[in-house]
Amino acid sequence: MPKMLLPESGVTFIAVTSGKGGVGKSTITINLAAALARLGKRVGILDADIYGFSIPAMMKIDQKPTMIDQTAIPAESHGVKVMSMGFFAKDNQPVMWRGPMLNKWIRNFLTNTHWGELDYLLLDLPPGTRDVAIDVAAMIPQAQEIIVTTPHYAASHVASRAGVMAQHTKHSILGVVENMAYFESNGEKNYLFGQGGAEKLAEELHSHIIAQVPFAQPEENTGSSVYDEDSVIGEVFTHLAEELIYQ
Ligand SMILES: Nc1ncnc2c1ncn2[C@@H]1O[C@H](COP(=O)(O)OP(=O)(O)OP(=O)(O)O)[C@@H](O)[C@H]1O
Ligand SMILES: [Mg+2]
Repeated sequence: MPKMLLPESGVTFIAVTSGKGGVGKSTITINLAAALARLGKRVGILDADIYGFSIPAMMKIDQKPTMIDQTAIPAESHGVKVMSMGFFAKDNQPVMWRGPMLNKWIRNFLTNTHWGELDYLLLDLPPGTRDVAIDVAAMIPQAQEIIVTTPHYAASHVASRAGVMAQHTKHSILGVVENMAYFESNGEKNYLFGQGGAEKLAEELHSHIIAQVPFAQPEENTGSSVYDEDSVIGEVFTHLAEELIYQ
C-alpha cells in the first residue's frame, strides 16, 4: 500500500467530483488547493482525470516533474505540488488506456511521486462514475468528497448520482459546492442558471452547501484559472479553506 495512504501519514484526501462534465471541478480543485497553500498548508493535487487532464494548463505549469530514478518530483505552482497525466502524455494527446492500466497509473502517482509531507491531497476526478472514480474510491476509502454542481436542476440531478456513488463507496461527503451560482453586475446578483438546485442536491445527500462560487474571469490576463487572493472568488475559496482547516 502506498505509504501516504496509511493513517499515520496524516494526509487528508479530498476528492472533487461531479455527475456532469464542465461544471467546474478542476477550477474548484486548483483554487481550493491554492487557498489552503496560502494559509500555510502543504498541499498536493493529483489530477486523476486521466483522459481529460487539464490541471497543468489551468495552472499554467510549463515544467515537467523531475524524474529521479523511478520517482517523480512533482511540478509546483501557487505553492501546490501537482501530478498529472498531462506531464506524460505526448504532445497533449489524450490517453487511451482503460481498466488495469489506469489503476496502475493512479497507484503510481501515489507511490512513485515524492510528495514529501502533505496536509492535503486534492484529487480532481473525471466526471461521472467511470473507471477512475471507482478505482480511486477503492484505493482511497478515507477520501472525503466535495461534489460540484451548477444551480441548474439538470446538473444537480446528475451530480446526485455521483453523490449516491460516494455513499456507496463509503466516502464521506464534505459538502456541495455550487459553482457559477450567480453573476454580479452593478452590485446586483443575477441567477443565470436559476436557484435552488444545489440546495436540493445537498438535501438529497443529507449534506449542505459549503461554498457558492459566482461567475468571474480570473483577474490577470495570464490564461491561468487561479483567481487572485483578493478577488471575490479568491475570498470564497479562502473562506472554504478556513472552514476545512478549522472545522
Ligand atoms: N465560477 C466560474 N466563473 C467563470 N468561469 C468558470 C467558473 N468555473 C469554471 N469556469 C470555466 O468553465 C469551464 C469548465 O470548468 P472546469 O474545467 O473547471 O470544469 P470541469 O468540471 O473540471 O470540466 P471537465 O468535466 O471537462 O473536467 C472552464 O473554462 C472554466 O474556466
Ligand atoms: Mg476537469
